[in-house]
Amino acid sequence: MSLLEVRDLVAGYGDTNILHGVSLDAEAGKIVTLIGPNGAGKSTVLKAVMGLLKPRGGSVRFAGEELAGREVEDIVAAGIGYVPQVENIFPSLTVAEHFRLVQSSPPPAELELVLNFFPQLKPRLGKMASVLSGGERQMLAIARALILKPRLMLLDEPSAALAPQVVAAVFDRIVAIARSGIAVLLVEQNVKVALPLSDYAYALQVGRNVLAAPGPDLLADPQLNDVYLGKAPNAGMAEDGAAG
Ligand SMILES: Nc1ncnc2c1ncn2[C@@H]1O[C@H](COP(=O)(O)OP(=O)(O)O)[C@@H](O)[C@H]1O
Ligand SMILES: [Mg+2]
Repeated sequence: MSLLEVRDLVAGYGDTNILHGVSLDAEAGKIVTLIGPNGAGKSTVLKAVMGLLKPRGGSVRFAGEELAGREVEDIVAAGIGYVPQVENIFPSLTVAEHFRLVQSSPPPAELELVLNFFPQLKPRLGKMASVLSGGERQMLAIARALILKPRLMLLDEPSAALAPQVVAAVFDRIVAIARSGIAVLLVEQNVKVALPLSDYAYALQVGRNVLAAPGPDLLADPQLNDVYLGKAPNAGMAEDGAAG
């Protein structure tokens, strides 16, 4: 049994369904990545897992418990951390205030643990987030989610808008988070950086699973291009709507 088991997830906005039966697994200590063209529904999957969007069908089992339909705060308390794609920090708060926002007095040991993961934030504790670099902001957003000691982290495009060297530094930390035993479910556009590091990866196209394989294998799959060009990479799987 995987830590997170998403099965046949249906979700959407208003009258429109965006996800038409998405399935995926995430495991402790592993990086699982969701890729696919813009608008495929990747961020929607994370929002539906997190309870920000109520699933309309399917199931989201976490550590053997059904989460579909539960409130966001219950899902956070169950052990899932979430770093959204944009506006994931508060420019007018200090770094230290970000930690107090999630936990009014984070135990010193926990704060120390998180700062050991992100040593560059240590000398910045009293600084406003607005003066941080793009990479430091992304690290702060991840650190803030880590302070609650999640068993699963959902990261939505952590490399977006970052310079290549900074992307490498952020991914180095994501790998370290997984090595510490946390399950990571990543959404990424940057397939060349993310897939080599991914234990497993799923490609989505218009709200459906179309390809799934260990990250490096998916990167090498000639059908990956079709996914981004909007062609059906594998008629059988695309019609079934879900992998495996
Ligand atoms: N809050 C929203 N209200 C209505 N439609 C939305 C909302 N958020 C996303 N969508 C639509 O859902 C589809 C999938 O979006 P999203 O999950 O953000 O895709 P991705 O992250 O793969 O780029 C898009 O067509 C988008 O326009
Ligand atoms: Mg997105």
